[in-house]
Amino acid sequence: MKSIMMLGHTFVIVSVIMKGITSDSQVEELLGKCTRLKVSVDLPIFLNSVNKTFEDMREQLSNAHFATTYETDVFGMAQCRNYLSTADCLACFDAGVTDIRRKCNAAVVGTHFIYQGCFLRYGIHNFYKEITLESPVLVCSYNHNIAEPGAFSPIVQGLLTEIVSATPKMKNYFAAAKRQVLSDGTTPTVYAVAQCVETISQSDCRSCLTRTYTNLKTCLSQPGGTCAEAGCFLRYSDSSFFADNNITNITPYIGGGSSSAKRPILGIIGGLMFLLLIIASIFWYQLVRKAKLEERAKITK
Ligand SMILES: *[C@@H]1O[C@H](CO)[C@@H](O)[C@H](O)[C@H]1NC(C)=O
Ligand SMILES: *[C@@H]1O[C@H](CO)[C@@H](O)[C@H](O)[C@H]1NC(C)=O
Repeated sequence: MKSIMMLGHTFVIVSVIMKGITSDSQVEELLGKCTRLKVSVDLPIFLNSVNKTFEDMREQLSNAHFATTYETDVFGMAQCRNYLSTADCLACFDAGVTDIRRKCNAAVVGTHFIYQGCFLRYGIHNFYKEITLESPVLVCSYNHNIAEPGAFSPIVQGLLTEIVSATPKMKNYFAAAKRQVLSDGTTPTVYAVAQCVETISQSDCRSCLTRTYTNLKTCLSQPGGTCAEAGCFLRYSDSSFFADNNITNITPYIGGGSSSAKRPILGIIGGLMFLLLIIASIFWYQLVRKAKLEERAKITK
């Protein structure tokens, strides 16, 4: 609680969009933003660039889950959650393009549309390194009650902590994991996914996910929740929204690097060992030299 209060001073949190998630549709819209840009560009060229940007990103997404592109005046970026098949990824992207064409007028705009399964964004400035939105997107799901919230939220918290710590160290900045809430099966399994855009640094990925996790804590007694920022995405649910074969092994990446207490101690131990090694080698060098001198003395005698 204390840490949330402290964060409240530093960031102007949070436009909470509370709405019920009734399905796990991957094209459920979390953010739909068209920003009119006050710049002078040649409109036909701009619109043509936007079209090329879409085409190029769609092509990239048929081989990957992440795409960036640049056409005259227009930077584009798109990402699918890595658990989506290519077909589902392209379907999410296409739904986004349709949405953008419908909701943003054919004028000079930047757009940012985020869905559960993917996001699309374009603009005239390079936003590849951005990690924050004006206000983070937060959606808690209220579609049913949790049988034992007292048991549920600590487990969700544990799972989210682990996945937030592991994801910046994972290939593609993506992790998916699940956890049984109570071993006797009286409460459901929790599923969670974390992802960063691939153009940011490991430490930006970590701080972005830490922010989303802080915001998502307000959802934890609910059956599901999603928080998205410009640089990352964090979601959990008590119903599965990805296939089991998409679960990533996060165990080797939990803790370690994120433990702030361990690191200085390891540093001190490492330093001491280094010092010992130097003293030992000086000592050894002296011994060898002395032996050699004595030998030489013997020979000259
Ligand atoms: C961009 O694509 C849309 C939809 O395919 C089309 O209606 C529009 O004419 C295109 N605009 C330009 C400038 O090519
Ligand atoms: C993830 O799940 C999707 C949809 O079920 C499947 O197409 C894809 O092959 C899975 N990915 C991996 C790495 O198993």
